[in-house]
Amino acid sequence: MAELGIVVSGATIGSIPVQIYRSAERHAVEEQLVGVVDRENPGEVVVGFLRRITKLEPVMRDRVRTPYVDRPEMVDYGILLPYTSAIVKPYVAIREGRIGEVTNVVTPGSKVYLLDASALENAFRGDYIYVGVHKYSGWALPLDVRYVTHHVGVFGATGMGKSRLVKALINELAAKGFRVVVFDHTGVDYAPYYNTVVKSTEVKIPPNILASVIAKVAQLQWQTHGEYLEIATMTYEGRWTKEGFIAHLRRVMKRLNARDSTIEKVELYLKQLVNSSFFEELNSRIKSPEDILSIEATPVVIDLSFDTDLSVKQAIVASVIEAAWAQVKREKTQAKIVFVVDEAQNYAPQTWTISKDAIETTVREGRKWGLSMILASQRIVGDIDPSIRANLGTIFFSRLTAPTDIREISTYLDLADINESVLAQLQPREFFVAGLMNPLRRPILIKTKEVP
Ligand SMILES: Nc1ncnc2c1ncn2[C@@H]1O[C@H](COP(=O)(O)OP(=O)(O)O)[C@@H](O)[C@H]1O
Ligand SMILES: [Mg+2]
Repeated sequence: MAELGIVVSGATIGSIPVQIYRSAERHAVEEQLVGVVDRENPGEVVVGFLRRITKLEPVMRDRVRTPYVDRPEMVDYGILLPYTSAIVKPYVAIREGRIGEVTNVVTPGSKVYLLDASALENAFRGDYIYVGVHKYSGWALPLDVRYVTHHVGVFGATGMGKSRLVKALINELAAKGFRVVVFDHTGVDYAPYYNTVVKSTEVKIPPNILASVIAKVAQLQWQTHGEYLEIATMTYEGRWTKEGFIAHLRRVMKRLNARDSTIEKVELYLKQLVNSSFFEELNSRIKSPEDILSIEATPVVIDLSFDTDLSVKQAIVASVIEAAWAQVKREKTQAKIVFVVDEAQNYAPQTWTISKDAIETTVREGRKWGLSMILASQRIVGDIDPSIRANLGTIFFSRLTAPTDIREISTYLDLADINESVLAQLQPREFFVAGLMNPLRRPILIKTKEVP
């Protein structure tokens, strides 16, 4: 381990002030992995990350008049003593090769080392998956696969590598025997890369969800018209046609004593706002959500780009997730299914959408049944419903488009004072990992592995 510097006065359990040797300054970067060996507790290495790197000089102090300002040429002759200070944020302690809590405050004069990844690699043995390495040390961050059932969020501006990171997660989870179902919003990010792809236009939409789609497309209020639509979709028989469905719906409404004016309105809206092709296409939807869940291969990608109507895409997401719920409740067994929803702003936003309830139920209660969610989106606030985002146990975040998002994350995850300006300068493929799957539990900056 290369020596980096020395602990100075003022260490606490949560923050260790250090000064860096001149010879080691090139290693003094934000988020560097370091180890501190307490001089009074030498058997233990406190593992932490460098933050608040600051360049100082004892004479040229900020807010104090310096003589060099009046004679700037003196800078070239004078004896400047610039130095670098920083703090180490302690995360865990390693003692005899085992990881434990940091319980001991380190003594001034203790040494700070550049930590070798092998010190940590040896400490983590278990059921882990890997999607990237710590940016500086190259430590392959082990992710605890047990906590995938506490759900995962991936956030960052466009182009930062969210979809590639999600792919890395998919590949690792599939290799661990999870059944992964990917909802590919655009058909570009996942469908071309995997063998088992189902076209969304083949997927059958169950009657209750189909009723919601028709209400949405025809702009009919659910409260007033939902029941009629539900009964009509449930009892419709034969080949789907627009005329056939409208005639059937009219009979249903008559039988239920709907007012003539309501019947006329519903008929008019359906005629005007729903294309014939919408109904025609229902005839080729022959794969039930249960069929999709019973496909042996993993991952299974559902290519949603074949459907253009967002409410139909949402209906398919809802149908497949609800089918999984029906299955676990019927069989009373734990599943091992991970649902992946990229571009999640379309499926789990703050406003009501057809797929939101299914996603919300899964993030709230899915863990008991082994149903997990991975959601990816540009933004957190606004894109993802609050009750959904607060239930994401692990969060990967890169450069964010909205600074308020980081504050939002900090309300339910410990962010250990990561520097907002570091966050603003992250490059593609760089993500902080925070939350339950990260065995150190507090944010670690990784570079994701190469994913085609
Ligand atoms: N892990 C990675 N391996 C290889 N290339 C990557 C990786 N992450 C990002 N890239 C590059 O960055 C581009 C954007 O990545 P993508 O995952 O599509 O970003 P996002 O989903 O955040 O918009 C990719 O097309 C690729 O060129
Ligand atoms: Mg993407």
